[in-house]
Amino acid sequence: MKHWFSDLVAFQRDPLNFFLDRGKAATEPLVPLAMGPYAVMLVADPELVKPIMKAEEAMIDKGKLIYKLREIIGRSSMTLSGPDHKARRAALHQQLARGLATSYVPQISAIIREQAAALAVEGRFEAHHVTSRLTLRVICNILFGPDVLSAEDETLLIESIKLVEDDLAADIFKVLPDLPWVRARKKARMRHGRAQMMHVVERAKDRAGQASILRALDALKLPPEELGDEVLLLLLAGHHTTGTAAAWLLYHIAADPALAARLAAEARAVSDDTGEAVPSRLPGAATSLAVVREVLRLYPSAWWLSREVKQRMELGGRTLKPGTSLLISPWHMHRDPKYWANPDKFDLERKFAGAAFLPFGAGPRACVGMGVGMLELQLLALEFAAAYELRPLAGPPPGPKPSITLIPPPMLLGLRLREVAPPPTPPSRRSPVSRSDLAKKRENAPATVEPSLVTYLEYALSDVGEIDETAASLLEAAINRLRLVGGLDREGRRAMN
Ligand code: HEM
Repeated sequence: MKHWFSDLVAFQRDPLNFFLDRGKAATEPLVPLAMGPYAVMLVADPELVKPIMKAEEAMIDKGKLIYKLREIIGRSSMTLSGPDHKARRAALHQQLARGLATSYVPQISAIIREQAAALAVEGRFEAHHVTSRLTLRVICNILFGPDVLSAEDETLLIESIKLVEDDLAADIFKVLPDLPWVRARKKARMRHGRAQMMHVVERAKDRAGQASILRALDALKLPPEELGDEVLLLLLAGHHTTGTAAAWLLYHIAADPALAARLAAEARAVSDDTGEAVPSRLPGAATSLAVVREVLRLYPSAWWLSREVKQRMELGGRTLKPGTSLLISPWHMHRDPKYWANPDKFDLERKFAGAAFLPFGAGPRACVGMGVGMLELQLLALEFAAAYELRPLAGPPPGPKPSITLIPPPMLLGLRLREVAPPPTPPSRRSPVSRSDLAKKRENAPATVEPSLVTYLEYALSDVGEIDETAASLLEAAINRLRLVGGLDREGRRAMN
């Protein structure tokens, strides 16, 4: 016989398969779940997502499942509604809007290169360990401004986040209360994690850059406690989601050398002659975008979303009472064979047009950091593939572990510098290039093309009377390679000039 929590055990034992099995077997758009004293519906039909996510707040809003997050992220964009939410969202949007996100290209690329160069020394790394740190550095840069946090502060933030997130995930679907001493221990961990994060925020606040999110939030004149809530939300939402997806992304590049070679070629095509990615070329970089989308389909970091019915209403052929929770699982929708052929296969030829693809949610509460998240993942694919050859050091990994986001299993990857082959030049077509030719080439370079590479070649060859084209292209490849491993950045070349 079914009782009011008969689905809870199956859910808690294996939440991912629970959502997937119930969603796949659904014969109605809404599937009732017995998960506690309140009515809960799994939204099985993707066509209902937009009507739910775009409904007036007075009808459908965030609800009790999300409010459990208030213990950590308090009164922040994720947990507020109405005018308070709108004001916060507008401030975040100012810095994160899709078009603006591309202004972060140089700083995100620099962080990826620096981190990757450090990995090259070891030659192997655990994917999520590296990507979670990397994405935290990126969100810190955007939140506080470039280079505001010290390495020690970054480490403190990572540790604090670890302290809070597992307990938080376990609490969300809990029906029975914890024993008092378990509860007290959890509370103490959360308090400690939060206090540690606030300590870092306080230290960084006065040094925050003018074009940073922190300044935009500061302009709202929030009470200090709420400014802290917002910062914590951004650290959690901005790094955890991207960091978990990024680990899978590196794994898939490592597992498919042909894909990695395509990405390396794409990286060259989107770069200017100094090797920097040109933001306006990124939307046309089809392979890296397809990799990012397919990773987000297979491993949607936000694997469930929830809303609550606020007024009695008709939806999906049912009458819903106020207080009914609506669960939407991108994990289910992204892997249901009704909407995707071979849903478990990593396939870059897919079309992503339908309503069953929602890694960033939908409507007015869709992810405000979507532009930055996509950009980070795309640059990660391009930068790593351009400079390194990755390979998995173990067999295929097991599936992800559901927590607040989808945590990847340990994935050990090897990496070594990619050989950059010079463009082939048949010996018969070699022609001498004199130093005065190089100088002329530099003078004639269009203003938009940075002439430092030519200048550097000239400098490097100052002892040689003349060189042929093959030697010049070999040197060019060597310089590119130096740049890719962070050995010679733009500033370095300027200094040489
Ligand atoms: C791959 C990366 C990311 C994924 C998959 C992701 C996913 C999501 C999803 C699904 C939502 C909607 C939740 C709901 O409707 O209940 C959301 C909201 C949010 N995300 Fe992201 N996110 C990512 C990256 C980021 C980044 C980089 C930032 C910050 C820079 C960020 C900040 C936020 C915030 C503040 C909200 C709340 C928006 C609101 O309620 O108005 N996210 N995210």
